[in-house]
Amino acid sequence: MIKLNYENAFVSEEKLLESAHLVKAAAAILHAKKGAGKEYTGWLDLPENYDKDEFLRIKEAAKKIKGHSDALVVIGIGGSYLGAKALFSALKHNFYNEIEKPKIYFAGQNLSPTYLKDLIEVLKDKDFSVNVISKSGTTTESAIAFRIFKSLLEEKYGKEGAKERIFATTDKSKGALKSLADTEGYETFVVPDNVGGRYSVLTAVGLLPLAVCDIDIDKLMEGAYDAAIKYANPNILENPCYQYAIIRNILYRRGKDIEILANYTPKLKYFTEWWKQLFGESEGKDGKGIFPAGVNFTTDLHSMGQMIQDGRRNIFETVLNIEKTNKDIEIESIDEDIDGLNYLANKTLHEINQKAMEGTIMAHVEGGVPNILLSIEELDEYNMGQLVYFFEKACGISGYLLGVNPFNQPGVEKYKSNMFTLLGKPGY
Ligand code: PA5
Repeated sequence: MIKLNYENAFVSEEKLLESAHLVKAAAAILHAKKGAGKEYTGWLDLPENYDKDEFLRIKEAAKKIKGHSDALVVIGIGGSYLGAKALFSALKHNFYNEIEKPKIYFAGQNLSPTYLKDLIEVLKDKDFSVNVISKSGTTTESAIAFRIFKSLLEEKYGKEGAKERIFATTDKSKGALKSLADTEGYETFVVPDNVGGRYSVLTAVGLLPLAVCDIDIDKLMEGAYDAAIKYANPNILENPCYQYAIIRNILYRRGKDIEILANYTPKLKYFTEWWKQLFGESEGKDGKGIFPAGVNFTTDLHSMGQMIQDGRRNIFETVLNIEKTNKDIEIESIDEDIDGLNYLANKTLHEINQKAMEGTIMAHVEGGVPNILLSIEELDEYNMGQLVYFFEKACGISGYLLGVNPFNQPGVEKYKSNMFTLLGKPGY
């Protein structure tokens, strides 16, 4: 269950109720699929209507990959990368690739030759498979990486052998990747037409890589399913998703145009990146939008803390709090207290981290930074499934409150066409 505490957001319950009709109207448009970008709202019903046959095929493909591969290279960028990376990092061991198999590597999310060369070196003596993910099937970064890894697989296993190790997640009927996959006979998975990239983590885009590293994708979908029911409640006082959407909109209207998402565990670093993409690409349009930023505490308290505490007062902070930890360390008392830490004896690191969070919230609120505290019980599949759905829905509603289409990304196309022109791509 996600708990939202807005007592430090400088928004009263009265103010919240005053704006409740706005969020209700936005939610009604979203549910009726009548708003801007309505053709990309399939993610809303995904936890109930997902393709059950494909879900089984995902599990079978994961089993096959685990059976013959030391490593899986997941190729994709943006919405075809961040969801899987976020949940992999949140739910698996911090040092997963050092102790578990198949190792998971991500590629195609940048154009760095050094990154690719280094990865090729790491894979040299390993049996590996590739999951190439691209809805359009034409994205340059992922297409280049796939061309390279496809050749490597064909050199290593021959064309037929490579076929057994390449899994393509793309549009059901169109795009260069779909044509290539059909020509070569790769197993394919579908990015549904009505689900945009950044809303696609609960499709094969996220589910196949996650299943390969033994993340319980049934529990993930169960969490999202329960969230879909809970966050359809029209009573704003009982719906933290609607509260989050309207509070950030109220703060934006007061000039707070930067939202900082803060976490207190390295496991949420990439979840924060996923969230940044979700809100950034959805809201940043027509000269409007809240700039989504992220900080990883307590690490960044020693770099960004000063700016948050004392810089320009155009920010608000949303803190992701994980209430329980499944691993902890107790501080022991020692005879000679030379390091002066005996005052912490018998406390656990989790308790100390929680106090760091509470102290930081107090300081930032005193510094004039509105705070929204979002708590989940623990980092597991069920809770993360809920959190994904919570943010997706809050983002769709926020976009409508702002008056933009939260489901397109016309701005992303601009750099692509400039790059194609500079590179001499036919037609540009
Ligand atoms: O959210 C989005 O739509 C984008 O970030 C895309 O996911 C990203 O540009 C990659 O596109 P594609 O999956 O077509 O390769």
